[in-house]
Amino acid sequence: MDTLKVDLGNDLSYNVHIGELGNIDFSNRKVAIITNPKVCGLHITKLTNKLKASDVFIISIKDGEQYKNIDTVNEILNNLFNHKLDRKSVLISLGGGVVGDICGFVAGIYQRGIDFINIPTTLLSQVDASVGGKTGINNSYGKNLIGLFNQPKAVHIDTIFLSTLASREYNAGMAEIIKMAVAFDLEFFNWLQSNTINNDENLKKAIKKSIELKIKIVQEDEKEMGVRAKLNYGHTFCHIVEMMSNYTTYLHGEAVSIGIIMANTLALDIGLITQNEFNQILSLLKMYDLPTKYYIKDIDSFYDKFFLDKKSMQGKISFILPINIGNSTIKDDITKQQIQKSLLRYNDYANNIN
Ligand SMILES: NC(=O)c1ccc[n+]([C@@H]2O[C@H](COP(=O)([O-])OP(=O)(O)OC[C@H]3O[C@@H](n4cnc5c(N)ncnc54)[C@H](O)[C@@H]3O)[C@@H](O)[C@H]2O)c1
Ligand SMILES: [Zn+2]
Repeated sequence: MDTLKVDLGNDLSYNVHIGELGNIDFSNRKVAIITNPKVCGLHITKLTNKLKASDVFIISIKDGEQYKNIDTVNEILNNLFNHKLDRKSVLISLGGGVVGDICGFVAGIYQRGIDFINIPTTLLSQVDASVGGKTGINNSYGKNLIGLFNQPKAVHIDTIFLSTLASREYNAGMAEIIKMAVAFDLEFFNWLQSNTINNDENLKKAIKKSIELKIKIVQEDEKEMGVRAKLNYGHTFCHIVEMMSNYTTYLHGEAVSIGIIMANTLALDIGLITQNEFNQILSLLKMYDLPTKYYIKDIDSFYDKFFLDKKSMQGKISFILPINIGNSTIKDDITKQQIQKSLLRYNDYANNIN
């Protein structure tokens, strides 16, 4: 068992445990497990066998990004009130990033806030969503626009859950791992290029490394006033692709992969990365069968959507772009002309059948 500490310098600090799920003791407290039918069917006993609480309720929400919304939040809140959870009660999320993001949000607003812990069951949520305290939901204006910074009390990461994950979901998680390597760590990127994550040892190594990188950034900048924004590399584009395709065509990680290549096209155009680096990142994404091509039908309307992004303050669009591999920067001074030129160039790439 590896334990990593997210040290926020205050009593909100918490541990991330990587290894076989151990006993979870909330002896005198009520616990509500937030999950969905699929994960519940596959894995609930792995948790309930280890859980001690005065009462345990299971709240199973509809499965899918399209249900990460205010209606689901309301449904959970009603359940919590019906089960008379009090301010000492605890929520446990057992599921992917959707369940985790909603659970953390509900925990933050139920009776002004109760404790929650995360047990992520997808690769994407193990390496990214479960750590760092970003919680929230989508609405018709965009992704994750309603939410709270709310840190969990603990995160438990057990790769046993991943054994039932569809390979497409698994690959989507790889996109966030690759994102982390490109934005922050050349050595990790090189390791990913020469090692496939097809055995438990490599898988655990990649998960641990990704979480370490994320923890370092979150510790530096919990509320995303600066460096933390770099974790959104690829996401400014990704969120538009997800919105334009009604959150149904692509998994989040797949849209991240497309977003990375859109960002890299811009980075290549303005000289931050070389063609060789562009190709290396592309090859790594392709190694996990991740999509990288999305045809932008209307460049003007795609461009306008940038202004819905939380990072685009006062009419300036912020892009997180790689500087070579292993480094990244936040740029908010790129002209509209340059951005549109790069989107057109990306379309040339997306149209190319090779
Ligand atoms: N809070 C953050 O910092 C953060 C970071 C990255 C992503 N996110 C959010 O995470 C969400 C994406 O998370 P996700 O990719 O985990 O998607 P998800 O939660 O929708 O899970 C993907 C699918 O896998 C299924 N599943 C979950 N665990 C399984 C298992 N062990 N075996 C079989 N199937 C399983 C789910 O039921 C679902 O159908 C997005 O909403 C994104 O915005 C949040
Ligand atoms: Zn993401």
